[in-house]
Amino acid sequence: MTRRICISGASSGIGARIAVDLAREGHHLTLLARRQNLLDEVAEQARAAGATSVTPLAVDLTVPEQVRPVLEQAGRFDVVVAAAGANAALAADAQTHLKGMAWAAWHWEANFRANVLSAVTLLEGLRELDALAEGASIVLLSSIAAYRGSGSGSYGGSKAALHPYAYDLAAALGPQGIRVNVVAPGYIAETNFFQGQMSEQRHETLVGQTLIGRAGMPDDVSETVRWLTSAGARHVTGQIIQVNGGASLGH
Ligand SMILES: NC(=O)c1ccc[n+]([C@@H]2O[C@H](COP(=O)([O-])OP(=O)(O)OC[C@H]3O[C@@H](n4cnc5c(N)ncnc54)[C@H](OP(=O)(O)O)[C@@H]3O)[C@@H](O)[C@H]2O)c1
Repeated sequence: MTRRICISGASSGIGARIAVDLAREGHHLTLLARRQNLLDEVAEQARAAGATSVTPLAVDLTVPEQVRPVLEQAGRFDVVVAAAGANAALAADAQTHLKGMAWAAWHWEANFRANVLSAVTLLEGLRELDALAEGASIVLLSSIAAYRGSGSGSYGGSKAALHPYAYDLAAALGPQGIRVNVVAPGYIAETNFFQGQMSEQRHETLVGQTLIGRAGMPDDVSETVRWLTSAGARHVTGQIIQVNGGASLGH
């Protein structure tokens, strides 16, 4: 069945992989991120992979005034994958000259915006516009950091905030047959997440923490998202699925 699918964070890494993988099933895709040029490249790949249509729309999802007009032209969706996110402390524009409390306040707020607000504006905007189809499936991207920290607290904390949001959304939308789940990846290589700051030693450490001795890849996550959004997962809602090669057990 051809579905209407919205993917945020589709200009690179995991979101781009999800877009191209779901395109193979012939769906209508709407791709969201800030960088239009990268979105256009992913859109080309998705068309080549078999998407029925692809609409790449540039938007900063942390700015509600930008989000609404974009969603108004985007239409109604059967699947929404909220993959946009970042560790703001690693970004090129991170205010690393700040120290102590001022630095902490900056990266906590920046990570809240990057990871919580980016998902909340998308999903609440779609709810407000009645743009979630009956029986739709929603997936949010969290992180292993939500369970074990991220060094600074703020990235993991912002991802952890998505968990109760997803539970509440699952409860609110369940009566419409809409399922809401979270995927929490461990270390995923071949993304732009680490902004060129992943050392060989850190890579080896993270791989060494897995039970299967390798880094995760974007398609490890996209396969899980594909399952969660498929009929095969029709009785799965309000859950957090970890994809980390055993680097963190259970939960
Ligand atoms: N890589 C990992 O090891 C890992 C592990 C656990 C969880 N995650 C999570 O997985 C998700 C995907 O990350 P990734 O690893 O694929 O990193 P990535 O390659 O850096 O992709 C992040 C995506 O989010 C988009 N984005 C960021 N801020 C945005 C904003 N304000 N508005 C709209 N789009 C925005 C980026 O596009 P633009 O820059 O063009 O806006 C990009 O498409 C993120 O939520 C991340 O936190 C990653």
